Amino acid sequence: MYTIQTLNNIVQCGLDVFGNQYEMITEGEADGILLRSFPMHTMELPASVKAIARAGAGVNNIPVEACTEKGIVVFNTPGANANAVKEMVLASLLLASRNLWDGISWAKSLYGYGDIVPELVEAGKKEYVGNEIRGKRLGIIGLGAIGALVANDALALEMEVIGYDPYVSVETAWRLSRQVQRAVNLEQIFATCDYITIHVPLVEQTRGLLNAHAFRSMKKGVRIFNFSRGELVQEEDLRDALESGIVANYVTDFPNNTVLGMKNVIPIPHLGASTYESEENCAIMAARQLKTYLETGNIRNS
Ligand code: MLT
Repeated sequence: MYTIQTLNNIVQCGLDVFGNQYEMITEGEADGILLRSFPMHTMELPASVKAIARAGAGVNNIPVEACTEKGIVVFNTPGANANAVKEMVLASLLLASRNLWDGISWAKSLYGYGDIVPELVEAGKKEYVGNEIRGKRLGIIGLGAIGALVANDALALEMEVIGYDPYVSVETAWRLSRQVQRAVNLEQIFATCDYITIHVPLVEQTRGLLNAHAFRSMKKGVRIFNFSRGELVQEEDLRDALESGIVANYVTDFPNNTVLGMKNVIPIPHLGASTYESEENCAIMAARQLKTYLETGNIRNS
């Protein structure tokens, strides 16, 4: 019998993995902690905790170094929500390219104009002409679980796809398609792509990865998609790049005041992985990792 503390809503299916072998507590002497994105940095860890399982990929809400020093194992669930994020990236490529964000908001604003709405719609039809993504070049920074899925499906949409990842071997990155080109460096992505999507974790080496230098190297009119973490982008530099037209759109799952109000910014309230399916996958995987570790001391990655 284990004592498990859950921080915010781990769905019941996660806890079902434990059967009746656990007691759930809200605070106190837990053996393990299950959580989603609850920010743990200010929380004091009970001395009893042996492992923390995060139902999600990013672990920036957990003080990993402090946990490691105390011998607490931290799990995450890479891949369990990859499909949800991939679908969001694909939706966003089209959303931005077809001016859907502006077009829909404008159409909604016609409420109250009565009989003249059809004529106004014709004006919108001219105003919000978009681009097709077929034949355009998509740069993917990070070819892990999400990046590889995005690459594969973007090819199916007839995009030209180029990826960059210094840590992923060719074999791993190419497990889905050999038609994805591999960039020799980030500059090659910056200089040649019409669309850039980032799929890397937030660590010291990636913080501010898209900065003034990067924006200066980009093709004018590039569209950028960030479903990884807001801090990967230096937002003051981004504001300048949006103002000068180097960046035509910034679609972000991490709205931040610096650029939020700008016309060409499309903010999304961290919905990339928010599907019922992915929440269930992540909760089950996290609970299995925790259960296995508490029972056997073994570390599992699935
Ligand atoms: C992740 O890190 O898995 C996603 O950003 C979604 C989440 O934070 O739960």
